[in-house]
Amino acid sequence: MIFAAILAGGIGSRMGNADMPKQFLMLGEKPVLIHTIEKFAIIDELEKIIVLTPKSFLKHTKDLIYKYLKDNDKIVVIEGGATRNDTILNSINYIKENFEIDDDSIILTHDAVRPFVTYKIIQDNILAAKEFGACDTLIPATDTIVKSKDGIAISSIPIRSECYQGQTPQSFKINKLYSLINKLSDEEKAILTDAAKIFVLKDEKVVLVDGEATNIKITYPYDLKLANTILEGSKND
Ligand code: CTP
Repeated sequence: MIFAAILAGGIGSRMGNADMPKQFLMLGEKPVLIHTIEKFAIIDELEKIIVLTPKSFLKHTKDLIYKYLKDNDKIVVIEGGATRNDTILNSINYIKENFEIDDDSIILTHDAVRPFVTYKIIQDNILAAKEFGACDTLIPATDTIVKSKDGIAISSIPIRSECYQGQTPQSFKINKLYSLINKLSDEEKAILTDAAKIFVLKDEKVVLVDGEATNIKITYPYDLKLANTILEGSKND
């Protein structure tokens, strides 16, 4: 079985003074979150699309889905968690409570604020997670990446051709991810902002899936402007 978790449980603090989290802001004619869900709604292989939002936005999210996507029984809305990884864990718990999964069942975890994910990226994630157990969507770094441990001076400069920028989806065999999360110490949990890092930290292989430069994450107000430009451009394709 294959599931998608659309991670919309954040509050978007870096977006500034918006009166609702960025995933609910309009992008063209519909909210960012709806654009994102639509990309997954056309994937036949998915058993369920689990949309996770802050508790106070559960009803709003259900209303939006009804308004823009009508009755789609593949989509379910549940509460996210305090951190991004807690949100992922909530999706796994939901799956475990409602489905008989096996060790080959996989989950695609995707940022709700990456509305331009493509059909190809999703399909490549499904193939890679099925074959290798874990994968991450990435694009080669174009800028040189510099490490600084104290934010004052450079501590190292990794070789650029070995550096990538992380995107999503990140996709995993569900039982494996669940068992690795449960093996984490509290210290490890605190530093693990990224689900693929859980695998890397436990010496488990995570393969690379090609992302796209347009698969941007809306983080700051500028990104929403950029997203509008990408959307306009895509209408001319
Ligand atoms: N996310 C989530 N649950 C959380 C935190 C984040 O599902 N507890 C989701 C966000 O909704 C977003 C994605 O993870 O779709 C990427 O996170 P980020 O861009 O950091 O979103 P926010 O946490 O909302 O933003 P900020 O860090 O600016 O507050």
